[in-house]
Amino acid sequence: NLRKPFVAGNWKMNGNLALVAEFNQKLANVKADSEIVICAPSLLLHAFETHSFAIGAQNVSHLNNGAHTGELSVEMLKEAGCGYAIVGHSERREDQGESSELVALKAKQCVSSGVVPIICVGEPLEVREAGDVESFVGEQLDALVSAMSVDELSKTVIAYEPIWAIGTGKTASPEQAQEVHEFIRGYFNKVDAQLAQGLRILYGGSVKPDNAETLFAQKDVDGGLIGGASLKAEDFISICQAAN
Ligand code: G3H
Repeated sequence: NLRKPFVAGNWKMNGNLALVAEFNQKLANVKADSEIVICAPSLLLHAFETHSFAIGAQNVSHLNNGAHTGELSVEMLKEAGCGYAIVGHSERREDQGESSELVALKAKQCVSSGVVPIICVGEPLEVREAGDVESFVGEQLDALVSAMSVDELSKTVIAYEPIWAIGTGKTASPEQAQEVHEFIRGYFNKVDAQLAQGLRILYGGSVKPDNAETLFAQKDVDGGLIGGASLKAEDFISICQAAN
């Protein structure tokens, strides 16, 4: 397998300095062969001691520094030590109305500064029930391919997060996850075979220590984007080890 396993925690709007201190301590000696990233609220990033894991942001502006009140630029994230930024999480697509075109611009902006975007895609329940998952996710991917070159796309990570599985305790079955991951890889294979081979595709949606291993064992699942379970150091560590 050419693809190094990848596990990212997404703390969302949770955590505080005490939790950062706990993670610094408990993750200091973790041995995992996977790439480990914690995407915490940006105000907490300065407090991480990143010896055994990297840090990332949960969002970034698609613009350069300038008059954009309330936004953070990729340059700022980089200076704060971020190697990664989540873009296009479904919560932002829903709550902030982010379009796939905007998400693609954010991803492109990350790549231009050497920050790896973790680009989220995934369908709501009604789309799955209507049998339209591939056309829905396909359209989200179309926006990426129109905005980015093959070289730029090769510097990204994709996260498939079915919205109905996020924070609901309802995980996609390993077969459901594999089916969509295979579709996503196949989609990129039509763009460029080498790109598709090397692209890490993470699964997100109620990943827990007891289901991580079977999900990560699927051929096209290269790791996970972990929400709730990334807030407990022990759970997050065992999920990271399940990805080895
Ligand atoms: O970014 C993470 C996902 O939204 C999954 O969240 O593990 O709490 O379901 P969850």
